[in-house]
Amino acid sequence: MPTFKLDGREIPFEPGDTIMRAAWRQGLEIPHYCWHPGLSVAANCRMCLVEIKAERPMLMPTLKWDPAKSEYVPADKPKLTPACQAPAVDGQEVFSKSPEALNAQAHVQEFLLLNHPVDCPICDQAGECKLQDYWLTSQGKGKRKRTEPVHKPKAVRFGPTIVYDAERCVMCTRCIRFCDEVTHDHVLDMRERGNKNEITVSPGRELNHRYTLMTEHVCPVGALTSRDFRFKARVWFLRAAKSVCSGCATGCNDYLDFDPRHNRVYRIRPRDNEAVNKFWMCDDGMLSYHKLHEGRVVTGTLRNGEVRASTPSEALSAAGKTLAGVSGAKVAIVLSAQFSSEDNTVLARFGRDVLGSERFYLGALGGWEGDSILRNSDNNPNRAGALAAAGETKVGSLSDLLADVASGSIEGFVALAGPVAESGATLAPLRSLKTSVALASHSGPLEEIARTVVPVTTYAEMDGTFVNAQGIAQRFQRAVLPAPGVKPAWQALIELAQAVGKPLALSDLTQVRGALPKATAEEARA
Ligand code: SF4
Ligand code: SF4
Ligand code: FES
Repeated sequence: MPTFKLDGREIPFEPGDTIMRAAWRQGLEIPHYCWHPGLSVAANCRMCLVEIKAERPMLMPTLKWDPAKSEYVPADKPKLTPACQAPAVDGQEVFSKSPEALNAQAHVQEFLLLNHPVDCPICDQAGECKLQDYWLTSQGKGKRKRTEPVHKPKAVRFGPTIVYDAERCVMCTRCIRFCDEVTHDHVLDMRERGNKNEITVSPGRELNHRYTLMTEHVCPVGALTSRDFRFKARVWFLRAAKSVCSGCATGCNDYLDFDPRHNRVYRIRPRDNEAVNKFWMCDDGMLSYHKLHEGRVVTGTLRNGEVRASTPSEALSAAGKTLAGVSGAKVAIVLSAQFSSEDNTVLARFGRDVLGSERFYLGALGGWEGDSILRNSDNNPNRAGALAAAGETKVGSLSDLLADVASGSIEGFVALAGPVAESGATLAPLRSLKTSVALASHSGPLEEIARTVVPVTTYAEMDGTFVNAQGIAQRFQRAVLPAPGVKPAWQALIELAQAVGKPLALSDLTQVRGALPKATAEEARA
């Protein structure tokens, strides 16, 4: 593989790589604003200027102060090159920290801040802003400009999700290029020139495609802010858990940003995985964190003539009692395309080993509009993982379950009660079953019907695995803590097996992961 030297370090590169991309692959950052690994090269910010040593260097005539003569004298200085645009060349030597390169970075940085309002205390980007980072590393000096800065439009509503502050904008055009190149929707453009330059929405349009929040995410400064997130949290209080989006079967890799002081998720943002979602997510996925805190089931419910709330452990022992006395072979095992592979695998084991049932069904949402960018038409994160948990056994739909209940071949159910396409009215015949246990994190049709409801965690409150539409098993980490006594469904099922008097040969996450179907045991990354 060809290599070049960056600040004395050998950097391998692939043919066609720029200096910036090759350095980025090695985890090295050359200061930049306009370059983004998923977008075309614009080379407009000039923050990435580097010095390239060549046999015939390009030189720029300039003036240099001569202290002996006490005057400026003609001199040459190396002509700097944008690293985001310059191709990597075998054997070349590149300097991003030479005195000339550092001097250029400092001046570009000072130029970008000339008319900037520097309103970091009220800016949502503060703490993760490139202007702040590079001020610290490349500038470090106070403002020399003493005149009134140029004022430009502020708090402009670009659409339902995004607000624009032109005074904070560095005109890097990442937002325009994202819309053009990823969503193929030329909804953003720039207008005016020089220090009047600003980003604008196409006449008669709103920024309202399905990936609008990505424009805020690619913006390196606080010019574009998300209406959902603005003024809600300061990023330095947030912690990030590596997770996987639960919005559809694509399984975009993401971070759940949560505040441990409030035990609350504040936003979802993409995590790069070139094999799955590249650098992007859709708006529905990024906003799906709201569901983690809405409509939650955090206590047990016992419906036996009257409806009574219970503690999680009371609900588990009530479920154990009701299941101990039934003919297990007639109990439906309802897997869920919304629950993790760990939960589905332990439920399938529970059905077979504890109840002796092979009657498997699947609860799932009924689909949404997909696209050719990321969105899969299956809006369930783990259909493949749930089906794999059943192995060779046929898995029926909830319509099949209703038919089997009507024919009398099913007399009860144990369900991972995630969201389903069927309404409560459609599923109403299941109310007649004397034995019905729902493990639920949210209220929903199956949870409202079941005679015993055991509260369980959401995916944000546990470590788990989803298998996406490509068959890639992807792990997610716990972010927030569950309510007292509430456990992941796989753990509740292990305890339920004990309550029934037929313990499973599983006790912890490592053993459960060992029991996952082989196809779901491997994780693929770019
Ligand atoms: S709004 Fe942000 S992404 Fe768009 S040009 Fe300005 S700084 Fe760049
Ligand atoms: S495409 Fe699917 S997995 Fe990706 S962010 Fe959107 S909803 Fe989530
Ligand atoms: S990153 Fe190279 S010019 Fe902007």
